[in-house]
Amino acid sequence: MQNNIFSGLFVGQNLVTIKQVDSTNSFLKNLLSNSTPVSEGTVIMAEEQYAGRGQQQNTWHSEPGKNLTFSLLLKPHFLPPHQQFDLNRAASLGVYDALYPLLGDQLKIKWPNDIYYGDRKLGGMLIENTIQGDSLKDSVVGIGININQENFPEGAANATSVKQILQKDYDLTLILSEICKCIEAHYLKLRAGQTELVRNAYQQHLYWLNEERSFESDSGIFTGMVKNVLPEGLLVIADTNGRQMEFNLKELKFLNK
Ligand code: BTN
Repeated sequence: MQNNIFSGLFVGQNLVTIKQVDSTNSFLKNLLSNSTPVSEGTVIMAEEQYAGRGQQQNTWHSEPGKNLTFSLLLKPHFLPPHQQFDLNRAASLGVYDALYPLLGDQLKIKWPNDIYYGDRKLGGMLIENTIQGDSLKDSVVGIGININQENFPEGAANATSVKQILQKDYDLTLILSEICKCIEAHYLKLRAGQTELVRNAYQQHLYWLNEERSFESDSGIFTGMVKNVLPEGLLVIADTNGRQMEFNLKELKFLNK
């Protein structure tokens, strides 16, 4: 009897579920550094992470058993290092496409790869790439999505979950299988050289796209609009005079009212 709900070609076909681990990214990177053969598309999913890692050295907190915390392995040997941001795009779009049927138009991708519902953060990603010569070798795509958690600590006041939004519990493995299928679809587009399709879709779903909003950079607080993300991943904001500015991670804060 066929009971594998993972319908993609390779992402999620080898699923390893761990009860407790420091961080699924660290676990997968460790396997790779021990030269353990790990097939492309392997997913390490944790019921509990006790030292989950977020962007910019932050920690990622997730109530045990309630949410998705997993890392998947890609081997994007076809990509030169200067195109690594396309992996952020493919992964963000995969999560977006999997959740869109549940959550609809308020779902957005906040540059570089946060998943937002309205003005609240539903999930995030930590993507760690290794480079060999002039191409990428391994990409450990770590994803945390809040699914069934009902309450968040004060420090995470901006967080939300699918349960908070829809008042229902969801099957974690089912959502994981959808995410894997959708990430694979975008990744295969990259592999087939259909990069523009992925870049355009990513741009269309950006949080605050073409909306007049407040931002803060080194030069202070200003009003501007998200316009685009350059191929290498810099965010383009136009100020109220139409002047375009480019920002790297850490150089810009989105200021919510
Ligand atoms: C962020 O928004 O700061 C990124 C959060 C990434 C969290 C995920 S959970 C699974 C994987 N393992 C980790 O240690 N981090 C990522």
